Amino acid sequence: MCGIVGYVGQKQTMEVLLGGLKRQEYRGYDSAGVAVITDGGSLESAKKSGKLQVLVDHLTAHPLTAGHTGIGHTRWATHGAPVDVNAHPHLADGGKLAMIHNGIIENFAEIKQEMLEAGHEFLSETDTEVGAVLLGHLVAQTGDFRTAFAQAVNRFEGAFTVLAIHQDSPDLILAARHNSPLVIGFGDGENFLGSDVAAFVEYTHHAAAVGQDQMVAITPEGVTVTDFAGKAVEVERFEIEWDASASDKGGWPSFMAKEITENPDAVANTVRGRVTETAVDIPELATLGADTIKNTQRIILIACGTASYAGQVAAYAIEQWARIPVEVQLSHEFRYRDPVITPQTLVVSISQSGETMDTLMAVRYAMEKGAKTVSICNTQGATIPRESDAIVYTHAGPEVAVASTKAFVAQITALYLLGLQFAQVRGTLSEKEIARNISELQSLPGKIEQVLLVGPEIRQLAKWMTESPAVLFLGRHVGFPIALEGALKLKELAYIHAEGFAAGELKHGPIALIDHGQPVFVVVPSPRGSAEIHSKVVSNIQEIRARGARVIAIAEQGDVAVLPYADEVIRIPLADPFFEPILAVVPLQIFAMELADAKGLDVDQPRNLAKSVTVE
Ligand code: F6R
Repeated sequence: MCGIVGYVGQKQTMEVLLGGLKRQEYRGYDSAGVAVITDGGSLESAKKSGKLQVLVDHLTAHPLTAGHTGIGHTRWATHGAPVDVNAHPHLADGGKLAMIHNGIIENFAEIKQEMLEAGHEFLSETDTEVGAVLLGHLVAQTGDFRTAFAQAVNRFEGAFTVLAIHQDSPDLILAARHNSPLVIGFGDGENFLGSDVAAFVEYTHHAAAVGQDQMVAITPEGVTVTDFAGKAVEVERFEIEWDASASDKGGWPSFMAKEITENPDAVANTVRGRVTETAVDIPELATLGADTIKNTQRIILIACGTASYAGQVAAYAIEQWARIPVEVQLSHEFRYRDPVITPQTLVVSISQSGETMDTLMAVRYAMEKGAKTVSICNTQGATIPRESDAIVYTHAGPEVAVASTKAFVAQITALYLLGLQFAQVRGTLSEKEIARNISELQSLPGKIEQVLLVGPEIRQLAKWMTESPAVLFLGRHVGFPIALEGALKLKELAYIHAEGFAAGELKHGPIALIDHGQPVFVVVPSPRGSAEIHSKVVSNIQEIRARGARVIAIAEQGDVAVLPYADEVIRIPLADPFFEPILAVVPLQIFAMELADAKGLDVDQPRNLAKSVTVE
């Protein structure tokens, strides 16, 4: 939540800052602001509520003086409404100092009281301004920006990444992080800071993640990193694997449209290099230690939102393949229920951003209790993978649309690979069975391409449904989490009330919702899998149809059993039942996007949301 960028160097600073904010706008988009130290040596800033474009338009009309040191921020409000005055940067020390912040300074009330007693005034309702005023106060007291910054940071409690500039130190940006992300971009005669590498990928691919409780100072000539006590530390450098163009719309009307079409690549790239014809080898799992796979007695998948539904799909497969009990827990529930964790428990977190605070806290909790941890993550250098025992990156490429699509299919893919490797090592699947599943995984990208062809048909369907007050989704077995995901996509994108149910639950209550014309999507399992499950879902369709539901079935090609009862049938290619979810979710992603689009909504940046939920 909140995107941060910092730049020192000879480029057009405003261009670097606004470009970095544009590529991080998915992190928060209720207000934005910038501050620069001008070539004349003074600090200038601008900030506006609304999307980044409002700030850009304002700066076009009222440009700041050119400078070569600057910071920028795009906000997702925590303290104080999204109005101009609450936007960042916040100024202090008589306007000579500017600070931006991602996170929450939890002890702001106490610091504010102290600052009020010291005679300072506040313009905004934010915790960030309290931080800025404290820093300004300490600069005045100590006469040294660096010393004051270290003192201020040591006072902050909660979660924060802060960046600050001071006009008396014109070529310097100071930054610190605690429980919130910060990455460094290394240039030649210039350096960058960002919440993620998207902030500066256009200019450099050399990056490093700043560790927990570390401070950074960047100047055009160099970067120094220390702990909060000022002791120098080494940072882990990495090369960014994707280009700036990967985070552009590339001619698509929205990032979401682009990312849905990238579903096939997300699967293919996640599988690539991790399989042979007959075996799975995820080299990254080696860091778990030799016997972990054999000795694991229980797997807990932890995640939030869409990532948790990926976990729910995969739980069926991993448990069946590896014969290990697998459960899925929402990260924010997990650590408050005093779970039973032993050294034989493997906790696998699933997070696109790798920064979701609830999931990070759950991972730390699991580690404290002695579990081994694996991170399934799509973002290089993010906090959750860095703190986990092993990392299995999903290679979906940058996901910019706030609602997750391609990362979801990549998460299921990575979890399936993990499940197959466990089955292989534990001898619970034969080589032939492993080979068959690998071949299923490898055939998925081509099959998703076929599903994508249903786009125009779904667009039509969506246009008819713009007035629907509610849409229901049903599924059984691996189709159940897909129903949940279909409902979530529709809620967040089209602001329509949507519910996903396990089809077996219908008669236990939800069937009361069915009335004449109620649209219900049904994810129909393959008749080639469990015939029993298939026929039960067909019966469920009959039951809701008899009560007036308008049924849209997602069924495999050739499944004629649904035809007499469904108003619409969306076809997906034949796949092994465990692999069907990866195909069945695609029409639901397209449906939510098209319906939101038909309602004139912003599909990339739905209201009230932010992509990276870095506060609890
Ligand atoms: C929904 C969506 C969210 C995320 C959730 C977890 O479309 O994107 O539900 O899945 O906030 O985010 P990550 O995967 O970054 O931990």
